[in-house]
Amino acid sequence: MQTHQFDAIIVGAGGAGLMAALYASMGGANVAVVSKLYPTRSHTGAALGGIGAALGNYEEDKPLWHAYDTVKGGDYLADQNAAKVLAENAVDAVIELEHMGLPFDRTPEGRISQRRFGGHTSNFGEKPVRRACHAADRTGHMILQTLYQQCIKRDVRFFDEFHVVDVLMNQGACVGVVAIQLGSGEYHVFHGKATLFATGGWGRVWRITSNAHTLTGDGAAVVYRRGVPMEDMEFFQFHPTGLYGLGVLLTEGIRGEGGILLNRKGERFMERYAPKIKDLASRDVVSRAIYHEVRAGNGINGKDYVHLDIRPATVNRYLAEAGETRRVDDAYIARVLAETLDVCRTFAGVDPLREAMPIQPTAHYAMGGIPTNIDAEVIMDEHETVLPGMYAAGEVACVSCHGANRLGTNSLVDLIVFGRRGGMKIAEYVKKADFVPLPANPTAEIEAEFNRLRSARANGKTRPYQLRKEMQAVMMDNVGVFRVEQGMKDAVTSVRELRDRYRSDLTFDDTGYKFNTDLLEAWELGCLLDLAEVTAVSSVARTESRGAHFREDFQKRDDENWMVHTLAYRKSDQPYPAGHPDIELNHKKPVDTSLAAEDPRFAPKERVY
Ligand code: FUM
Repeated sequence: MQTHQFDAIIVGAGGAGLMAALYASMGGANVAVVSKLYPTRSHTGAALGGIGAALGNYEEDKPLWHAYDTVKGGDYLADQNAAKVLAENAVDAVIELEHMGLPFDRTPEGRISQRRFGGHTSNFGEKPVRRACHAADRTGHMILQTLYQQCIKRDVRFFDEFHVVDVLMNQGACVGVVAIQLGSGEYHVFHGKATLFATGGWGRVWRITSNAHTLTGDGAAVVYRRGVPMEDMEFFQFHPTGLYGLGVLLTEGIRGEGGILLNRKGERFMERYAPKIKDLASRDVVSRAIYHEVRAGNGINGKDYVHLDIRPATVNRYLAEAGETRRVDDAYIARVLAETLDVCRTFAGVDPLREAMPIQPTAHYAMGGIPTNIDAEVIMDEHETVLPGMYAAGEVACVSCHGANRLGTNSLVDLIVFGRRGGMKIAEYVKKADFVPLPANPTAEIEAEFNRLRSARANGKTRPYQLRKEMQAVMMDNVGVFRVEQGMKDAVTSVRELRDRYRSDLTFDDTGYKFNTDLLEAWELGCLLDLAEVTAVSSVARTESRGAHFREDFQKRDDENWMVHTLAYRKSDQPYPAGHPDIELNHKKPVDTSLAAEDPRFAPKERVY
């Protein structure tokens, strides 16, 4: 075992982790980034279409309008103080990225180019607005490259291919993490004054997902096992346009550029579901509309998908019908949606310039996660009690600026804005805080769990992919876009049975230490199962429909009883107990409605798009 000591440990090297590392180091902290991937392979690279900021480069825009759209898009569960910070800080955060060298597309005048995106409007819902700042359809990838370069320039220390498997607590504070070095199998303890989790989401809980294989929720699971609650886990977003059968993301920027959703009859069905902004309604609305069409027999070829059409002839017809003067051609589409063309041609054999793309909703984004305040400090309860030394930012965190449904482009804003705020707060904290000592035998419990997995494999019969496949099917069918009580309860039962089999019957081949990805994949499955369980349990409890949590047995939003966040606690003092520890749900954390207190337009009302 090796021990390293840094002021700040950042777990995860996506946009939030890199931004936090950069700002902590700029504030004078000695920073280590610990990541199971090489930083530029992080999942931020899969965020395609743009980062939202009210720059107003084509038409009038205001941060307040952005905040309004965020609150409405979140079906009024977003904490309004956080939505305000998100929208206001977005503007200078994007300009800062530009100054760091991010190669944004440009307007004819040389300003950052902006496109439309779902749910983003001007003047409190009046009409779609061009707010998504983009670098073709590779915006997240460009953010990663830019921030990584900046971190290297500032001598941030990177521990690439170090898989964090436990968090260390002592004297009521977070004091670091334990990681396994992939190349050697050796345990490394990272001792820090401050530890920030930026480990992304857990879309791999579902069968069809836009998330990479690496999105197994490790960061959320390790802190949850150590007593930190999970907030709003019932809200998991399905992005409307995943490539059919694979789930690979086809950016909302396609619709932002004029792409149209069509059913089997060639109808632009979103006109019926969102008469005002149609295909650019918020993601929860569009995903449900697609499933309604499929249920009504309007899927393509009788299957569970519809078409997304970006062919210039189609786009230009609808632009003309809408009275717009803008027109597109093959060269323009090929330039601004280069990645889309590539993905469709490679994975579906479909050329979007010649054919419509087959799409279906795909599990995309966790609105819930590790509860934090607006400075990325982890909080433990409805009183916002801060857990000293622990921070979280990006998808793994729940600020909650997205409420029950995130708007497209706001994840990139979230990770830049709250990663930056977290980095600044850490820099301040480590100046005055001392190192809290490590617990005795810091790797003992996690080593015991890995030893258990290693020895159980000799007698087990089920491989991780088999259990994972069953979990994904159950969660897709019962805790997906449409939900009912019995289905969700069945999912809880099934996931618990899978956890029993995980403990009693798991096997894998590799018995070695170097690059034992078999063993780590088995451990990751345990994280997915824990998060699937807490998602299903939190979903059963919320007896209303709101944002991404749509219940067929409670179809209305219930503001009287449910303007509250869920905090789910795992009742066990051990990270790996046998059996099933209870999950205690607390529904006392009220939604912040500070904007509504000043302006009635922010008060909850029926969402019309
Ligand atoms: O559709 C997209 O380009 C995805 C962006 C996001 O999730 O914000």
